[in-house]
Amino acid sequence: MLESLKAIPPDPILGILAAFAKDTNPRKIDLGIGVYRDEEGNTPLLKSVVEAEKQMIAHQNSKSYLGPTGVPGFNSAMSRLVFGESNEAVAEGRIRTVQTPGGTGALRLAAELVKTASPTARVSASEPTWPNHLAIFPAAGLGMESYPYYDPASSSLRLDDMLTALRSKGPGDVVLFHACCHNPCGVSPDPAQWELITDVAAERGFLPIVDLAYQGFERGLEEDNLSVRLFTQKCPELIVTSSCSKNFAVYRDRVGAISVVASSAQKAADIETVIHALTRKNYSMPPAHGPAVIDILLQSAELTALWRTEVAGMRDRINGLRSELEEKIRARGVSRDFAFLRRQTGMFSFLGLNVAQVRRLREEFSIYTVDSARANIASFNGSNIDYFVDALAEILESPAA
Ligand code: LMR
Repeated sequence: MLESLKAIPPDPILGILAAFAKDTNPRKIDLGIGVYRDEEGNTPLLKSVVEAEKQMIAHQNSKSYLGPTGVPGFNSAMSRLVFGESNEAVAEGRIRTVQTPGGTGALRLAAELVKTASPTARVSASEPTWPNHLAIFPAAGLGMESYPYYDPASSSLRLDDMLTALRSKGPGDVVLFHACCHNPCGVSPDPAQWELITDVAAERGFLPIVDLAYQGFERGLEEDNLSVRLFTQKCPELIVTSSCSKNFAVYRDRVGAISVVASSAQKAADIETVIHALTRKNYSMPPAHGPAVIDILLQSAELTALWRTEVAGMRDRINGLRSELEEKIRARGVSRDFAFLRRQTGMFSFLGLNVAQVRRLREEFSIYTVDSARANIASFNGSNIDYFVDALAEILESPAA
């Protein structure tokens, strides 16, 4: 039977990771996968996480099964982080948060929850969106469509077109949003724009799903959950998929959560039983190690304060790199305007290169981006930024031989 299976190409983002690992050029730069990197090019452990992990290991006395809810303290701490400390819906018991294997696990459960509730529902995602969104929802049997979002000509948000598209949605439709640090384009709605978007959601009655993968990387931990708080205030139902990969730097530990806001505490409790059943069918129960560490971290005022400083440090470094890159490109005499780098936020921006230019960057300079020319800005540092700017100038100013 298995003879019928044909090889399929690697996922575009993970494929770049593998191609980069094989490249022997000492000057190579990986602008592909979205991981934070420090000045030395490493993806460091956070001090707050290391300390919490030591405490967790010192106190753990069993690795027996926990059940589909996982670590209860983690789930309530994540609810407070994702929805804000004094969210009324939390107090009313209308929110249930359950840990998942990473944000991707949360998205898959969200897709299956929608499929269970409404088998013919279609999910609308921003154009463009994280490529894996386009795989996860159909894998659960849901159709997908897109709404206008990014304007490559101005490197900014197509707000009016987006609102018009959202006004055509209604009850039974599902719309996926990125809470902050839009992946891949780096353009996110500002607070006034989120008010307009969430007003349309309330008027039209579609189900919002908010993907919160970069909380703390745009403007701050509280600022970055604004859309979640607004949807919760204005809409009776909401799903949030959150990831701890980036803001706790626990990428490989696979830590995330799905949160569901329902119209009543009883309905939220009912929905949680559906999440448990879906969990059991998929992977039985979530891994406990990462959530147990984050539970300890978030229960400790001292470690939480340290962690907040570390998140701010990562955000500030990326924003600093955005300005530095824009300045260096301008100083190098590149005629194209890269001022958008400063206006955009988070790890990613599109460099505005076509596929042939992306290939030249890779083949002539060992600089790796995905074919969309999405670049991970966090990968730049004092040792590689000038090499990159020279390569970019060469690609843009002198056509291939
Ligand atoms: C990315 O977009 O590079 C990250 O979210 C990592 C991934 O799994 O794709």
